[in-house]
Amino acid sequence: MLDSELLLSISEDCNRSDIIAHSDKVVSDIDYQRYKNLLSLRRNGFPIHYLIGKKEFFSIDFFVSSNTLIPRPETELLVDTALSLFGKNEKINILELGTGCGAIALTLKKNRPMFSVTATDKSIKALDMAKINADKLGLEVNFVVSDWFKKVKYNNYDLIISNPPYVEERALEFNNNLKYEPRLALYGGKTGLNSLNLIISEAIFHLNSGGYLVLEHGAEQAKKVIEFALENKYISCQSLKDMNNKDRCLIAQRSI
Ligand SMILES: C[S@@+](CC[C@H](N)C(=O)[O-])C[C@H]1O[C@@H](n2cnc3c(N)ncnc32)[C@H](O)[C@@H]1O
Repeated sequence: MLDSELLLSISEDCNRSDIIAHSDKVVSDIDYQRYKNLLSLRRNGFPIHYLIGKKEFFSIDFFVSSNTLIPRPETELLVDTALSLFGKNEKINILELGTGCGAIALTLKKNRPMFSVTATDKSIKALDMAKINADKLGLEVNFVVSDWFKKVKYNNYDLIISNPPYVEERALEFNNNLKYEPRLALYGGKTGLNSLNLIISEAIFHLNSGGYLVLEHGAEQAKKVIEFALENKYISCQSLKDMNNKDRCLIAQRSI
C-alpha cells in the first residue's frame, strides 16, 4: 500500500499526503499509464528508493540512483560508532572510502562541522550523486575519485571509515533483492573479503598514531576481519553488533 501510494505520488507529481487527502480524484490516462509502468517495475523487484529517487539515512534525505547503493539502516551503526569515538569539538581528519551517495561522509560532517572529511569512490557517477547531496545539504566534503587508496594523498587520518563491498559471490548470485544495485558496490570476491582485507592492510599506513579504522562487514565475517586486523598490527580490535544483533562493524586502532 505504501509503495503504491508513493508511486502514484510520483506519477501525479505530488506528495503522498495529497494522494491520501484526495483519494477521490480521477487521474488522467497519461498519469495512469505512468503509474502502471512504475508499478510493473516495482513488481519486478526494482527498488522503491530508485523509483522515488531518495532514501532517508540518519534522518537525512539523500538522493540515490541506480549508480549508488541504497544506504541501509544497519550502516547507521558506523556513524554512531565514529561519533562516539571523538569529542564534539575535536578537529579531526576523516577519510571515507567508497562513499556512494555520500551518506556516511555527509552525515558525519552534518553532525560534527569541525570534522575535515574526505570521501572517495571508484565510481564517478556515484561521486557525482554524493556531490549533489553535499550541495543540497550545504556541506563541504572533499570528494576524490580513487580506487581505494590509490589517489589518497595524505596519511594523517584520525579515522578511516568504510562500508565496502562485502557480499560473497554465491550470495550475490542467489539474492534477488540485490540484482538492481551496482555490482561494484556489493561484490566482495569469492569469499566477500577482498575489499575488506585490502582496506585493513593499507589503512594502517594512512592513519595517525591512535587513529581508528571503522569498517562495516557481513554478519559471518567478524572473526575473519578481527583476525586479519590483529595480523596487521592493529590493537583493540572488536566487532559491534547492529540493531538485529548481528556482528556488523569492525573497530580497530593503530597503536600509539
Ligand atoms: C557498499 S557500497 C557503500 C556506499 C555508501 N558508503 C553506503 O554505505 O551506503 C560500496 C561503495 O564502494 C565503492 N567501491 C567499490 N570498489 C571500489 C574501489 N576499488 N575503490 C573505491 N570505491 C569502491 C562502490 O562504488 C560503492 O559506492
